[in-house]
Amino acid sequence: MKRILIFILPILIIVTLGFTISGIMQARFTEEKLMDDLMRKARAVGESLELAAKYILVNNDLKAAKRLADSFQKRERLQGCVIYNREGQILAVTEQFSYLNDQERPYLKNILSTKTPRGAIEQFREYSVYSYILPVLDDDGNVLGMVEVIYDTSYMFTTLTELWKKLSTTLIALILLIFLVTLLIQRQIFIMPVRRLTQWFTHFQRGDTDKLRPFAEEKGEFGKLVSEVEQVALSMRVARRTISDQAHVRLQKEELWTEAKLKDLIHAKLGDNSLFVVSNREPYMHVLDESTGKSACIRPASGVVTAIHPILSACGGTWIAHGSGNADRKFVNSKDKLGVPPEDNRYILKRVWLSKEEEQGYYYGFSNEGLWPLCHNTHTRPLFKESDWKMYKEVNRKFADSVLEELPANDPFVFVQDYHFTLLPKMIKEKRPDARIALFWHIPWPTPEAFMICPYQNEILEGMLGADLIGFHVQNHCNNFLDTANRLLESRVDTEKFSVVRNGKETFIRAFPISVDTRSGTGSFKVEPLRQIEHLKKEFELEGKITALGVDRIDYTKGIVEKLLAIDRFLEKYPEYKTKFVFIQLAAPSRTHIKRYHDLISEIDELVEKINWKHREGDWSPVIYLKKHFSQDDIQPYYQLADICIVSSLHDGMNLVAKEYVVQKNDLSGVLILSQFTGASRELTDAIMVNPYSTEEFAESIKLAVEMPKEDRKKRMENMRRVVSENNVYRWAAGIITEMTSLKKIEDKNALPSG
Ligand code: F6P
Repeated sequence: MKRILIFILPILIIVTLGFTISGIMQARFTEEKLMDDLMRKARAVGESLELAAKYILVNNDLKAAKRLADSFQKRERLQGCVIYNREGQILAVTEQFSYLNDQERPYLKNILSTKTPRGAIEQFREYSVYSYILPVLDDDGNVLGMVEVIYDTSYMFTTLTELWKKLSTTLIALILLIFLVTLLIQRQIFIMPVRRLTQWFTHFQRGDTDKLRPFAEEKGEFGKLVSEVEQVALSMRVARRTISDQAHVRLQKEELWTEAKLKDLIHAKLGDNSLFVVSNREPYMHVLDESTGKSACIRPASGVVTAIHPILSACGGTWIAHGSGNADRKFVNSKDKLGVPPEDNRYILKRVWLSKEEEQGYYYGFSNEGLWPLCHNTHTRPLFKESDWKMYKEVNRKFADSVLEELPANDPFVFVQDYHFTLLPKMIKEKRPDARIALFWHIPWPTPEAFMICPYQNEILEGMLGADLIGFHVQNHCNNFLDTANRLLESRVDTEKFSVVRNGKETFIRAFPISVDTRSGTGSFKVEPLRQIEHLKKEFELEGKITALGVDRIDYTKGIVEKLLAIDRFLEKYPEYKTKFVFIQLAAPSRTHIKRYHDLISEIDELVEKINWKHREGDWSPVIYLKKHFSQDDIQPYYQLADICIVSSLHDGMNLVAKEYVVQKNDLSGVLILSQFTGASRELTDAIMVNPYSTEEFAESIKLAVEMPKEDRKKRMENMRRVVSENNVYRWAAGIITEMTSLKKIEDKNALPSG
């Protein structure tokens, strides 16, 4: 609109100015003409009155004068007349002007003496009139008196007002017409081609060749532009194909999964189709620091983020997630997208906005008060509220729409993350049956008995089975899921193929143990210089002490309380380690609006306080509790300085902290104490396994770790590092992509030839 106004305003000013000038001239001309008519009429009537008055004045017949004055009124616009004697006194006057007797009119004397008629506009009381006075002379030219005719002039004003009204109406109509015509021209010249171009780009982005064809056939400049852009696109596609062919060759050569190898795999398997990842947690959050007023970009503490970020960094694509940072909206473009990492845009992050009510019902409510405790064996009662479920469905629909908007025309690959989006696969599949959908479940899957307490079990299972592939961390969770589908849903479970068939649609269930990026000194997880480690040692007085470390979100599933109780017991049983042993707990507050989490924060605060008070000796306290958000880079020096890392989850899908610690121990010096209830315990068998519920056993494990001989530590760490580097996050992603594309092949082979 602003642009239209800039364009239209000069035209409007010129037209209005021209129109006003011509209006003024026309009004002046009309006024002059009316005046001229009036004067002529007044003169004619005055002259006819003169003749009659001459006789009356000669005979000084006052009665006849009165009759004459009365007869010259109310004729057309003639208002009245006056007859004067030779002294300029009124002899007779029309009734309505009788007040003229008292009016001083010096020019009368002048008319008498000069014997010259006078016509002028006069103000008689509140009326504006035209008065024409002419002297009456006898045959010798002597003055007998005067006659005056008085005309109404108000009709002139009315006529001019009417004229101005007409002119203004025409001007307004003209302005509107110009506005309308300009709008139409603007639409035709600018908006339509831009709209066409936008349509072209949308189809082009989606690879919708059928819809692109009519554009290329267009004549004129637009057609030329489309054809030029097509040439550029073609060269890009050819370049990508070449990369993809080279990728095939490299794939066969390299053994260990690396960023480059995954990139090659994706090029080789997905070709032009890029990845679309959906998760609740976004990989980058913009948060406003209230105290400084500045926005910071942080990486949230999340297993999903840790695993998926390196994959998209390597391969590009689009990550669709909830924009939960309070400054997030400031950093997106008109499509709610931004390139990330902010300093080196490797992939697109599309933020989906949720209202407070949506976040409460979908995230805090159904996902984290319902599904989270349902899937973790931690004896925390799941809460299922109808209103939360309703919101959960609505938010799943919102994300589905947001994903569907982005998908290219053919065979897109959508990779959905976690329990926040159980309904998404079905919602996407309904609209885009050609989409390949994988759902990865980052938390444990419970037994059918545990799952069946969920009132919405059928809808959840059906929603998930919209996916072509569902991944879990470990085989046990796959088995639980197959059992659940078998028992709670009308479906056929194929125990040989590990798939569920429902309504003619087959979903494959597979275990893909998630992992971390094992590169050292590059990428997202850098080896920190010694300086930082030295700084921390000084700050917390760790020199010469055995340092154990815990890194967790503050969540009841992480067993932080159990870990602290074990440390307390360890120091009780083995007081010789007092002043020699320190435990650092890095704890990121999480889901704090949920009461259970809120209470846990206070419980841990109190316990830390109690243990430190109980064992304190001089300046030494056993527990250093650092409760805040730590970035990946912040955590790294802690991993490197820690002699022991304690992972005490009561139930955990995988637990990437265990793997991150192993990756960071380049010098093979660390010991990992790992809960037997984590997915990671299946792979990291050289860790010291613990049951975190057993405080005695846990305390003994800490002693074992503290006293483990160097050689033993080295051997165990070497083994664990080998396992993690062989099964790194690139292998995890490669496994899922390979599985997805091989499923496609099976289906394609089975597809009936058309016709
Ligand atoms: O898989 C569990 C998960 O969703 C992971 O992303 C991460 O470990 C954790 O929960 C993060 O929780 P939130 O995103 O609710 O802070």
